Amino acid sequence: MEKIVILTGAGISAESGLITFRDEGGLWAQHRIEDVATPEGFARDPALVQGFYNARRVQAAKVHPNAAHQALARLQSEWPGDVVIVTQNVDNLHEAGGAEDVIHMHGSLDRALCATCGHRWAAPPEMAVGEPCPTCAEPTARPDVVWFGEMPYHMDEIYSHLSSASIFAAIGTSGQVYPAAAFVHEAQTAGSQTLEINLEPTMGASVFDDRLVGKATETVPQWVDRLLRQTD
Ligand code: APR
Repeated sequence: MEKIVILTGAGISAESGLITFRDEGGLWAQHRIEDVATPEGFARDPALVQGFYNARRVQAAKVHPNAAHQALARLQSEWPGDVVIVTQNVDNLHEAGGAEDVIHMHGSLDRALCATCGHRWAAPPEMAVGEPCPTCAEPTARPDVVWFGEMPYHMDEIYSHLSSASIFAAIGTSGQVYPAAAFVHEAQTAGSQTLEINLEPTMGASVFDDRLVGKATETVPQWVDRLLRQTD
């Protein structure tokens, strides 16, 4: 049965109340990327960076999955083939909405990482600067989030899924950050039908075979209903 690969971005969590990056007043309008989302920024001012992620972690713990997250979980459980969700988001709303085996290519707010020994553990709601690693005790704990200039996680697994996808959908992502922005080309090379689901067509919209324009809480359930009707 057809395999579906889905890439999500901040737009799928927007209606849950989590701010996006590049929309009007978004995160990158309030903070400089080089200050809060690069290894150099963390080395220069770890308190600023931990503070930035603490605020996002506290906010993410307050919000709930929306109908779009829940629709993708329903697709995973009712579609006869594989449904792989790859997310650029560091919130856990896909899992809270019932999705399984979500691939977090940019890491997760829920996890801490030791920059010395690579140990990962559940992040506390607020991480302090110089927190000792539970394994090597070095004071080099950081958020387990992929910063600009770092390699996203699980790339081999993601490319393997894209090479065998029959349907690829990009949901709520502006398609401006690589390598995620090129996944649609990988999927098309593999012969996938490609779909962009977004509040408005992105600059890369014309690359996709189809587009669904509107709020994710309306368009994603509609798309899932249409797919599942095909299997009746
Ligand atoms: N429904 C559907 N789409 C929406 C909604 C909504 N309610 N609200 C916003 N969007 C769309 C916007 O139109 C935009 O295309 O979501 C997209 C959000 O784009 P970005 O803010 O750029 O977020 P994203 O694409 O996830 O950014 C990718 O960039 O900064 C890095 O690591 C960060 O993972 C992030 C990556």
